[in-house]
Amino acid sequence: MKILHITCSPRGQQSVSYRLSQRVMDRLLSQHPSAQIVTRDLWAEPLPHVDGEYAGALGGTRDGTKLAGRAMSWLALSERLIGELRDADCVIIATPMHNFTVPSALKAWLDHVVRIGVTFNVTPEGKIGTLADRPVYIAVSSGGYRTGERARQPDFLEPYLRAILPTIGLKSLSFFSVESTVAGPEATTAAFAAVERELDAA
Ligand SMILES: Cc1cc2nc3c(=O)[nH]c(=O)nc-3n(C[C@H](O)[C@H](O)[C@H](O)COP(=O)(O)O)c2cc1C
Repeated sequence: MKILHITCSPRGQQSVSYRLSQRVMDRLLSQHPSAQIVTRDLWAEPLPHVDGEYAGALGGTRDGTKLAGRAMSWLALSERLIGELRDADCVIIATPMHNFTVPSALKAWLDHVVRIGVTFNVTPEGKIGTLADRPVYIAVSSGGYRTGERARQPDFLEPYLRAILPTIGLKSLSFFSVESTVAGPEATTAAFAAVERELDAA
């Protein structure tokens, strides 16, 4: 059993999304004590954002152009990240909401692993993922409410992940949320308790 743990908060291990994802991890480890954990901290080790070299490299691999230098290292990084996903029996993603959606660090990771002709193919029926499905647990923290009647902001985070992850074949998604963290530590503690109950029932 291999668990890929992806985190992206600039607040590192103090972050709410990290701590929430750690609760999910604890539950998984209680069921699979010898599980191997692979961590990818996208804040501590940021990935490059897409540039012309990478965009060109993607096109180059598809039309057979010989690639060199930086383009090759872009693809090698992408292969490594896709390999980590392929090897994982389950994935935990910890993410805060930044400006209604995922932080740019997580978007950069997605730009490396959602790859035409590799993790998805374009067909007349649309984009079809090539990765085998596996459980993906997503721990989300947000300063305000992003779901339900109390939400006063749009949520492009959860709908986005619900669209992009199945595009590469990851369909078994479970979301766990701590919302309204700006309300202070007491509200955050209560939100954690509610998530514990959800995890117990999952
Ligand atoms: C750049 C930035 C943008 C943010 N945008 C939002 C937002 O759109 N909606 C929201 O509810 N909270 C927003 N927040 C607040 C964070 O989601 C909140 O503080 C969250 O608990 C942080 O989680 P973390 O501790 O895992 O980093 C933003 C925070 C930052 C730093």
